[in-house]
Amino acid sequence: MKLIKTKAELVDALADLRGHIALVPTMGALHDGHLSLVAAARADISSADDMVVASIFVNPLQFAQLGDCDDYRNYPRTLDADAQLLESAGVDIIFAPDVAEMYPQGTPEVWVRSGEMGSQLEGASRPGHFDGVATVVAKLFSLIRPNRAYFGQKDAQQLAVIKRMVHDLDLRVDIRAVPIIRGADGLAESSRNQHLGATDRQNALALSATLAALRDRRIDLEQARVELSNADAVDLDYLEVVSPETLQPITWPPTAPALALGAITVGGTRLIDNMDI
Ligand code: PAF
Repeated sequence: MKLIKTKAELVDALADLRGHIALVPTMGALHDGHLSLVAAARADISSADDMVVASIFVNPLQFAQLGDCDDYRNYPRTLDADAQLLESAGVDIIFAPDVAEMYPQGTPEVWVRSGEMGSQLEGASRPGHFDGVATVVAKLFSLIRPNRAYFGQKDAQQLAVIKRMVHDLDLRVDIRAVPIIRGADGLAESSRNQHLGATDRQNALALSATLAALRDRRIDLEQARVELSNADAVDLDYLEVVSPETLQPITWPPTAPALALGAITVGGTRLIDNMDI
């Protein structure tokens, strides 16, 4: 496994590659959800010349005030541990540039705009977040030139925005969605779960339970919102049923494949989850 920190070294390392490149973009602080992306990338390898590349880059553009915030400053940076995990998971190259390497002239002038898709749901409470995500992912695609890139279904809005970017900008990357990893209790895997105490975790299960009830048509959308708003210690941000491609709201009951997604805050920790319905 090679750990590469500069664009020049990356170009060198990929220059003679004859096989396909599978990319797993991350911001590090890896957990089982990320490792499932790597496992999916490895499972799709069909030739000894193929390669799995993982990127680790905490992208300031997708944080509040372009990274001038505690969320960005305090984001866990655990490169040594992450590199060990990725090596054991079978990653061939880690690209882990620093901010000056990625943005040598500071904040870029020209960005990818995620439009209405990026300004609702998660984007409503994090203005500019999906523009920052789309911009850095476009740069990673341009630098690494992957044939396939792997994103978690957990971040359903991010996945939809990236798929739309690839479509709208004719980028030649096959985007693969990897299913959510859940704990035995049903809670979706997230780096934020570490902030939940035992009682918070129990209360947080209201989100996956409500999504499952919607999926199984045991309740309708309005009842689901009421149940979630009344759940113990849960602060409901949104619960919506949308088209998985456009993220436009769908009226209940859906007659075509739809996505139910929600965001709650429990004990000060904001959590998101979604299910196909
Ligand atoms: O999902 C993430 O970890 C990030 O948003 C991504 C896709 C690596 C872009 O910075």
